Amino acid sequence: MKDYEELSEKAAEILMKQLESKPDSVIGLATGGTPIGMYRQLVSRFKREEISFARVTAFNLDEYIGLGKEQPESFYSYMEHHFFGHVDIPVASRHIPDGMAENLEGACEAYESSIEASGGIDLQVVGIGQNGHIGFNEPGTSFQSRTHVTELSASTRRANAKYFDVKEMPEQAITMGLQTIMKARSIVLLAYGHEKRDALAQLRTGKITGSFPASCLHEHPNVTVLYGEESEGEG
Ligand code: GLP
Repeated sequence: MKDYEELSEKAAEILMKQLESKPDSVIGLATGGTPIGMYRQLVSRFKREEISFARVTAFNLDEYIGLGKEQPESFYSYMEHHFFGHVDIPVASRHIPDGMAENLEGACEAYESSIEASGGIDLQVVGIGQNGHIGFNEPGTSFQSRTHVTELSASTRRANAKYFDVKEMPEQAITMGLQTIMKARSIVLLAYGHEKRDALAQLRTGKITGSFPASCLHEHPNVTVLYGEESEGEG
C-alpha cells in the first residue's frame, strides 16, 4: 500500500527507467486526478536536468468530443497544464485525439495509424475508472477495439463531473481501444484512493470479462499495477 507521493514517485521512476533504456521511447499517457503527481515528479526532474524528453513521442489515451483545445476541461489543456507545457517533448511529437474533428471516424483511424507509424507504444500509462474502464473504454467494449468514438457511461460522467465548470459535461469521447492499449509493449496502471478499492479487488480476482474492461490486462505479459490509498483520517 502506497501513499500518493510514493505512488507518484514509483510511476515517475518507471517512466525514467524506460527513457534511460530507450531515450526515443513512444509513451502513452493518461489524464485524470491520479497521474498528476507523476507528472509533477517528472517536471521537477526535468527542471533539475535529470531527464530529457526531447526524443520522446507521446500519445494520449483519450479526449472529450466537443471540447476545444482552449477549454480548461479538455485533456489537451490538462496535458499542457500538468506536463507538456513544462517539458521538452517537441510539439510535433505530442499526440492527443482531436475531439473537434469534423470527421471523427477519420480522426480515429489517423490516430491509430500514427501510433503504428511511430513504431508502437513502448510504455502505456493507464488509470482505471470505478467501473473498470481504461482510457474511456466502458464496460462492454470489445477487447478487439481500436481508437474509436465512445458514449460515456453515467458512472464515468458522475466521477468526472468534478472536473467540469460547465454544467453539461460531454457525452462522448475518442479513446484508444482496448486492443490499442494491449499492443503497448509494457503498461503501468495507476490507481489511488478508497473509491478505487472495489475496482482493484475486482481486477485482482483475475477474472477476464468484457463487463470489466481492465480485466483484459491479465492477458498482457508486462503490466505493473501501482495502487495506493489515503492513510486513516486523510481524504
Ligand atoms: C477518466 C480518464 C481515464 C482515467 C479515469 C480515472 O475517465 N479517461 O483515463 O483513468 O478518468 O481518473 P481519476 O484518476 O481522476 O480517478
